[in-house]
Amino acid sequence: MKAIGVFHAERRCGVIDHPEPEAAGVQQAKLRVLEVGVCGTDKEITSFEYGAPPEGSPYLILGHESLAEVVECGPGAHLKPGQLVVATVRRPCTIASCTACRGGRQDFCVTGQYSERGIMHRHGFMAEYVIEDEVRLHPLPGGLRRVGVLTEPLTIAEKAISQLWHVQQRLPWMPPPDSQAPLGSGQRALVLGAGPVGLLGAMKLVTEGFDTWVYSLSPPGTDLAAVVEGFGARFVPAETVPVADVAGQTGNIDVIYEATGSSSLAYSVMPHLGPNGVFIFTGVPGLHGPRPTDIDALMRSQVLRNQVVLGTVNASPQNFNDAIEDLGEFQNRWPGTLASLISSRVPIEDTVALLSGHPGGIKHVISVAG
Ligand code: BGC
Ligand code: ZN
Repeated sequence: MKAIGVFHAERRCGVIDHPEPEAAGVQQAKLRVLEVGVCGTDKEITSFEYGAPPEGSPYLILGHESLAEVVECGPGAHLKPGQLVVATVRRPCTIASCTACRGGRQDFCVTGQYSERGIMHRHGFMAEYVIEDEVRLHPLPGGLRRVGVLTEPLTIAEKAISQLWHVQQRLPWMPPPDSQAPLGSGQRALVLGAGPVGLLGAMKLVTEGFDTWVYSLSPPGTDLAAVVEGFGARFVPAETVPVADVAGQTGNIDVIYEATGSSSLAYSVMPHLGPNGVFIFTGVPGLHGPRPTDIDALMRSQVLRNQVVLGTVNASPQNFNDAIEDLGEFQNRWPGTLASLISSRVPIEDTVALLSGHPGGIKHVISVAG
């Protein structure tokens, strides 16, 4: 069957012929892959800067933002053929002392020995068929077929924002994280970046009740302002508003949600975080050597304003369930908005060209089948 293979040692990648997996094991499902989203991580992998093949394999099959259909189940599995599913990405390490992995929270793995499908030491989803353990699969309602590929990038926001509520339990007046009231009401959030993780995070922050602002570095082209304003957030283009003026426009900021991976942008906005605020990092910068920043000013503000700086990666099974539920919620609130985040669907043969180009737009998706 067709798959996208990345040969790190030989620094090449492209369509390969990979053996089709056979029958699913007892508690497994065989899946027909429908779509796979691409992101900055895939670009890093196909530039051979990140990722690694499974042990003993000369290549890594790419792809971690999955949407698939069950074709066959093992005798102990409960999914039904035809069911749409999204798979989680990270698999636990095997080290007995890793409390995170032993507790099912490999997104907090302490050993670094985890694997990730399509990224680290485990084949991904850019293949016609894959086998997966049923416990790693999250059923997706059929009505979300056209937007289900956005589940995985939304899980990044789900984890970030659920962590935010845990952190803010330090404030005695905060309602508990599971309270029904929108926890963000009366608070202001600034999102850095209008890519998929930024926009999906902004949608989540709006549903949590935040007065939400999106600061975008994107060049003009896609009508991002209309997308952002359509879901009730405010759009601030970097083109016309310098970083130093952002706080002047937004007023006191309770949460900054970083989704550009640009350290210079992040650290130039950080001094504008308000009292008791939380700065959330989701973007992963490349390593470009030391950069100048006023660390005294940052440290002063962090101490004198009781601030928290929070990094977050990957997501829990619960975050996947929440993301699927929220995709439904976003569809109801803002029909058409999620679909508008998908800028193109391209055949699997065009994957490498897509990843090596600068296609603009928001989310690009590989159509593997259907
Ligand atoms: C994926 C995460 C993964 C991270 C680091 C991201 O693109 O969405 O699941 O943990 O890369 O490899
Ligand atoms: Zn991704």
